[in-house]
Amino acid sequence: MPKIVCVHSFRDGVGKTTVTANLAALLVGRGLRVCVVDTNFNRPELHRQFGKTDSDFSHALSDFLAGDCPADKIVYEITPALGKSKGRVYLIPAHSNSKREKQITREGFDPTLFREGLDEIATAHHIDIFLIDGAAGIDHAALPIFAVTDLLAIVMRLGNEDFQGTGVLVEIADKMEVPHSFLVVCDVPDSYDFNNVRGEVERVYGREVGAVVPHVEIPPGLGKTGITAIDFPNSPMVLALSEVAKRIVHWKG
Ligand SMILES: Nc1ncnc2c1ncn2[C@@H]1O[C@H](COP(=O)(O)OP(=O)(O)OP(=O)(O)O)[C@@H](O)[C@H]1O
Ligand SMILES: [Mg+2]
Repeated sequence: MPKIVCVHSFRDGVGKTTVTANLAALLVGRGLRVCVVDTNFNRPELHRQFGKTDSDFSHALSDFLAGDCPADKIVYEITPALGKSKGRVYLIPAHSNSKREKQITREGFDPTLFREGLDEIATAHHIDIFLIDGAAGIDHAALPIFAVTDLLAIVMRLGNEDFQGTGVLVEIADKMEVPHSFLVVCDVPDSYDFNNVRGEVERVYGREVGAVVPHVEIPPGLGKTGITAIDFPNSPMVLALSEVAKRIVHWKG
């Protein structure tokens, strides 16, 4: 059975896509077969992290969810985007600016069909881990994703704008009985005491912090492949995210 990991946040622009792409690289570096899934139906960006453009893909997740194509049409191997790697990485993209994506955001989709599609793809490509890059907030697309999620990484930044929304996500994870949820505090300036941040955030939300990810001076996206975990493996951001990669690997359900 593949593990299904969802990377979500209440507010946008907090680092979900950066976390998803770098976790994929770290897990693939351990020899695993990973499939990243773009469910940011409002603004799909995940493919760009791997150097891909919209025209590289003819089919997307929404085509399968609408019953227009079989699951095997929506998955693309993108391993070469990581340079030389031990494992494999695949992508299930979303279409940019399509009516179908907008409809999914408004009306949601069937979680059972989604799960069946992922299972079929897992069997065909021997996928160990799905990493789902979500859209910020709680719209109709978020709940069916949480319904199939084994591990939910709730990404947040320090600051008041995120405070209540992150708490709402923690509550929803519990109400929906997501088996394991944890927080990832992103883009934390060096001036903070990271141990204090971890302790305080855990106290406030009553949830474990999987990583406190520092603000990095070389912004994510630069370098040869554009993926920090490949280009700058000793970056403090990557070292922090490797804690999350370990958590995913060791989680047994
Ligand atoms: N640790 C970090 N240090 C410096 N910059 C960062 C860090 N993490 C993310 N960023 C930058 O923050 C911006 C937002 O990141 P990203 O696109 O991953 O967020 P997101 O949550 O996926 O956004 P959206 O909700 O729009 O999908 C990007 O420009 C990214 O390069
Ligand atoms: Mg994003």
